[in-house]
Amino acid sequence: TSGRAVVVAIDGPAGSGKSSVARAVARELGFQFLDTGAAYRALTWLILEQGGDTDDEPTVIGSLGALDSLELTVDAAGQRVAIQGHDVTEDIRTERISGAVSGVARTAAAREAVNVRFRAIIAAAAPGIVAEGRDITTVVAPDADVRVLLTADEAVRVRRRFGDVGGDELQVGARLAARDASDSRVVDFLNAADGVTVVDSTHLTFDETVDAIVRLASEEQHD
Ligand code: DC
Repeated sequence: TSGRAVVVAIDGPAGSGKSSVARAVARELGFQFLDTGAAYRALTWLILEQGGDTDDEPTVIGSLGALDSLELTVDAAGQRVAIQGHDVTEDIRTERISGAVSGVARTAAAREAVNVRFRAIIAAAAPGIVAEGRDITTVVAPDADVRVLLTADEAVRVRRRFGDVGGDELQVGARLAARDASDSRVVDFLNAADGVTVVDSTHLTFDETVDAIVRLASEEQHD
């Protein structure tokens, strides 16, 4: 496959460790890295910044013009996110954004608009790219060389997430379950589509999970 970028697509629920795993896979392979959730989060940040409500569809649609100003770097060492000149790399990780992002994600026009950006980034990637999200294996890059659904039992995901955000574990669990339930109504990331390899990390360490995906990608490169 020399000369052609290798595309690794990873989907999964919140707290599956997707983001850190995908970034580590990219680093190991010397590939670029695209966290697609960051685009949904950046739009959410902008809407809240302007005093808007992400559950109001016309508001979300009205914000889509700002996507022209969205900067998403694809450096595996750390993706930087900016919108309308504001660096929101850190701000988009707060619970305030997590709690409002589903409204953007369920707006079809928003999904189509960000997908155009994602496909352009993937098409320009070299020598390869790891893209993670909810619909990468099915909608954004269904032709990806490697397609993985990364899962873990809910209790394990809550525990891993708990470490991330702190606070009350029961509350974290409830919020995580609510977000997945809402998000999975928009795109099904709980069941693997045809040809997608399930990597269940419930009983794997972080490194073992990364290795499993790197191995799938290496097999692809040697074909
Ligand atoms: O992966 P994340 O938590 O950063 O995702 C943020 C939100 O965006 C989440 O509610 C799901 C949604 N999302 C999506 O619908 N499709 C994607 N490809 C990526 C994220």
